[in-house]
Amino acid sequence: MSIDGGGVPHREGRTLMLLPNLPEESQGPGAKASGKVFYNPAMAGSRTRSVLLFRHAMDEGMLGDGTVYALDGLTASGLRARRWLNELSSERSSRISATMVDLDGSALEWAEASHREFPPSNGGGSLESTKGDLRVAVLSSGRHWVDIDPYGSPIPFIDSAMQSMARSGVMEVSATDTAALTGSSRTALMRRYGARVRTDSLSHDSGMRVMLATFSRVAARHDRSIVPLVSVWDSHHLRVSFRVLKGVSAANELEDNIGWRVHSPTREEVLASIGSGLHHGSDIEQLPMHCMLPLEFPLDRSDPRVSGPLWVGPTGDKGAMSSMTEERALESCGPEFTIDDPLGWDERRFEAERRKVIRSVRHISEESEVISASHLIVVDDLAAWLGTGAPPSPRKIVGTLREAGHPAGVSSYGRPSFRTGAPWESIVEAAMSIQPPM
Ligand SMILES: C[S@@+](CC[C@H](N)C(=O)[O-])C[C@H]1O[C@@H](n2cnc3c(N)ncnc32)[C@H](O)[C@@H]1O
Repeated sequence: MSIDGGGVPHREGRTLMLLPNLPEESQGPGAKASGKVFYNPAMAGSRTRSVLLFRHAMDEGMLGDGTVYALDGLTASGLRARRWLNELSSERSSRISATMVDLDGSALEWAEASHREFPPSNGGGSLESTKGDLRVAVLSSGRHWVDIDPYGSPIPFIDSAMQSMARSGVMEVSATDTAALTGSSRTALMRRYGARVRTDSLSHDSGMRVMLATFSRVAARHDRSIVPLVSVWDSHHLRVSFRVLKGVSAANELEDNIGWRVHSPTREEVLASIGSGLHHGSDIEQLPMHCMLPLEFPLDRSDPRVSGPLWVGPTGDKGAMSSMTEERALESCGPEFTIDDPLGWDERRFEAERRKVIRSVRHISEESEVISASHLIVVDDLAAWLGTGAPPSPRKIVGTLREAGHPAGVSSYGRPSFRTGAPWESIVEAAMSIQPPM
């Protein structure tokens, strides 16, 4: 299909684009071979969160105070970079110099055609494209923002991307090698990330923590440290977003945030976890379902209860996550109905897109309050562990814990779950008060 005058127009968030094919047709790596452009509507939420995080990072001064050099590293349709430019206010977007990189020249041609046909409504910022291998292109200059969204594992791209980071910047990394990261493909996990993960209902959380531990080690090799901003498991992919800061002393503290997760820990393990500040606890008459342990704790790495090495610190930042409210998502990314819409969408279509925008930040700002808490609890696991009947709803147990004076919030994790800073015995008490043992 030729680009001039051709293509199928499509909308995601507030941004319009041209694709050579209908969106539903191009959901896998095969898109390239068949002359289509890869565009996966299932990743729309990830792009919405990217716009919101960009906004927060700029407002908080994480990206310096001059031009922000941003790289949409594996851009495909170019939509992520185009959404930054189109959906941030003109005051913000005018500071952005964005580059889209892809090996696929025809994908870049479509991205450029989309940009010509539907330029940013705020008129701000600049957009360039580079055809080539990201591992080479990324080294051409320093960047404040690098997005890595590959087919499969991000590992091949991290080292060079890390070297390109400015003194203070943000990196966002997706991974679709979830079978490896969640422990189902054990050899791939060990080969790529040097870790083991127990395949249980926290395995996606463990997978994101393995990503953070791996990237923090790469950062330390280049005299940098990372600070997680938001980590999300969204259908088929895991995605972590983090600040990258230059400085040897923070890089030297690398191991403070790396350790192990142990399922069904012993008394001794729970005491060590409490002693290291990795677990809320007072009396340990009832042992919790799992706890974190520091890297130096002597344990048997082949023990099937153990996952790691993984990031044992918070997987997100209170400020960044609390900025992802429904109101802000709609304000930045929600499309507004107009009678002369170029795509001919009616009010219902617009409403459906606005609901999608809202869904992409569900529970994230609520969870921000407890993101540093040590317990992430899947309610099915809790009911099975305690021998109670049906699992409590996350909303109900969060309410009970809050009434008892404990911090708690429903989690954005992909299974019904909550986070809390309550001691284990208070969690048990709350669960029992809702649903006594059978
Ligand atoms: C999963 S798609 C990216 C999706 C895109 N970020 C989005 O939000 O829709 C991966 C893209 O990476 C490109 N690619 C694969 N290996 C590459 C490399 N070494 N350098 C640059 N681009 C590459 C592919 O052509 C493909 O367009």
